[in-house]
Amino acid sequence: MSSFILNQRVISTDERPGMVLLEFIRGVACLSGTKEACREGECGACTVLVGAKQADGSVAYKACASCLLPIGDVDGCHIVTVEGLIGEPLTLVQRLIVENNASQCGFCTPGIVLSLTGFCLGSPALSYEDAVDALDGNICRCTGYVSIRNAARALCERLSGVDTDPAERFEALVDAGVVPEYFRAIPDQLAQLRTEPRPAGENAVLVAGGTDLFVQRPEQLLESELCFLSDRCDLNYVRAEGEALRVGGAVTIEDFRRSAPVQKHFPGVAHDLLRHSSTLLRNKATLTGNIVNASPIGDAAIILLALDARLVIENRGGGKREVPLSKFFLGYKKTDLACGELISEIVIPLLPAGARYHFEKVSNRATLDIAAVNTALRLATGPDGAITGIDLAAGGVGPTPLLIGGLEAFYGRKPDAETADAIAKAAEAAAKPIDDIRGSAAYKKLLLGQLVRVHFAAPAAAGEAV
Ligand SMILES: Cc1cc2nc3c(=O)[nH]c(=O)nc-3n(C[C@H](O)[C@H](O)[C@H](O)COP(=O)(O)OP(=O)(O)OC[C@H]3O[C@@H](n4cnc5c(N)ncnc54)[C@H](O)[C@@H]3O)c2cc1C
Ligand code: FES
Ligand code: FES
Repeated sequence: MSSFILNQRVISTDERPGMVLLEFIRGVACLSGTKEACREGECGACTVLVGAKQADGSVAYKACASCLLPIGDVDGCHIVTVEGLIGEPLTLVQRLIVENNASQCGFCTPGIVLSLTGFCLGSPALSYEDAVDALDGNICRCTGYVSIRNAARALCERLSGVDTDPAERFEALVDAGVVPEYFRAIPDQLAQLRTEPRPAGENAVLVAGGTDLFVQRPEQLLESELCFLSDRCDLNYVRAEGEALRVGGAVTIEDFRRSAPVQKHFPGVAHDLLRHSSTLLRNKATLTGNIVNASPIGDAAIILLALDARLVIENRGGGKREVPLSKFFLGYKKTDLACGELISEIVIPLLPAGARYHFEKVSNRATLDIAAVNTALRLATGPDGAITGIDLAAGGVGPTPLLIGGLEAFYGRKPDAETADAIAKAAEAAAKPIDDIRGSAAYKKLLLGQLVRVHFAAPAAAGEAV
């Protein structure tokens, strides 16, 4: 049984936990404002808000793609579709869309309204740049993005005086008509909602964000027993401890990006992860899902490889072992994870003094696209400016995310153009790409070499210098 609040209605349903929310909203609840198009997280037509209870009793809302979101994972949550925002008068976002002619056929409009509303409720800063980022998962085929951006700009201007502190902000947003009055009662209603614990059997499929799983095998997951990583509240933390960042296995990519320790110690990583999928997906997708999916072009996997991350792996009995990420990938889609094990923590060493990090990704589209080739570099230099450490990771050039070995030969050299060129050639020699839809093997080799040169040419400020 899954229980949640859909707009203003309490739902308790026996539908299978693996049924995607989009299916439930349109097919069971008969609400047709949430649109169905790609069913693969690519277009944003199915965007809804998911409000989850927080430890302090408040509700935190995030925009998510309902086509990849199983209903079992929204147990105890408040789900908002466009019908939950309809009323007299229209909400502020809806009015600004109308005033700025930001809707033509209207197919994408419910998704855009929900994404912008999610931005108002959850974005750390109510800036125009963040509003545009919040729309990175919503595709519009007819209006044109200029008028949609104009509506976003007008929204930020109207909210310029709003306190961004979460508690103050919520009340202010209700007063400003961004969300209807009934939202005020939702925290109490969620607190009273009965949800049942769901013990998971040995064969249950572990679902983190579901953004790989529900693209790869939705029909099979509908029939399967599922176990949700979001239930592991103990694995939802990011903290700096000693010389490392410790990241719980259930942390989403967006929470990781926005967390204070990452903003402080790895601002470049926080920025680069904006190139991972879209806000709608990053709000659910996890770093651990990216690692375990073991795609050779996983962005988080490549970044974490270069940062020399380690994985804490937990078995069913609670026993733990630690594995360097560089030893985790055993072959194409094969990992060092036994049945019943999960990644409970990622440990990322802080950058030592004199080290810097840089990431490059080439894909057909700037957002919502996986890479043809991606690469990350951690470069350490001594007081004399000579190289003391190189960790170079590359994706799309082999069956697994690749950590390029043998670069110790360059220690002691200055990281100048000549050294960069020699390292680029070493990387090209180590790469074993294949021809595929993203490019020929020859193109990917050439691209990797060029991106390695960019790593060295980029100013230190593009990554972090400490
Ligand atoms: C439209 C679209 C765009 C995308 N764009 C990008 C992109 O730009 N860059 C990119 O790298 N990826 C991209 N992806 C892929 C996907 O979003 C990422 O790989 C994501 O990080 C997967 O995380 P998840 O939590 O959703 O994983 P899930 O789908 O929940 O899980 C993936 C696998 O990992 C396992 N798993 C998850 N967490 C754990 C854990 N803690 N311990 C053990 N096993 C675990 C699951 O059982 C499953 O086998 C995209 C996907 C879509 C649909
Ligand atoms: S239907 Fe396209 S993102 Fe869900
Ligand atoms: S208004 Fe037609 S797709 Fe956006």
